[in-house]
Amino acid sequence: MFVYRGRSPDNCVTIYIDDSAVLVPAAMSVAGALLVSGQPVVRRTPVTGSGRSAWCLMGSCFDCLVDIDDVKGCQACATPVQEGMRISRPGPERCTTDNVDPWEAGP
Ligand code: FES
Repeated sequence: MFVYRGRSPDNCVTIYIDDSAVLVPAAMSVAGALLVSGQPVVRRTPVTGSGRSAWCLMGSCFDCLVDIDDVKGCQACATPVQEGMRISRPGPERCTTDNVDPWEAGP
């Protein structure tokens, strides 16, 4: 699934995951970068706060939504890393349905 040939300044970019600089391979998705950097948790659930990770890695499940450069809800598995990219992972407060009108919410 991944072609990973180690990290060197020649084939890597620096991204920021929750404000921490991380050196990751340049030809990789954000979800892949989270995995190889040892930070597989993409978001936290609203009920228990447990960590969730990217699941399908092909753009189908939408379980990998992160904020990238202040754009909310980007698919980490479908977004290639870029130099200087800033990634924030939503906490449980972003996933709550407390303010959702069930009659307005879709299926
Ligand atoms: S991991 Fe399923 S859409 Fe990204």
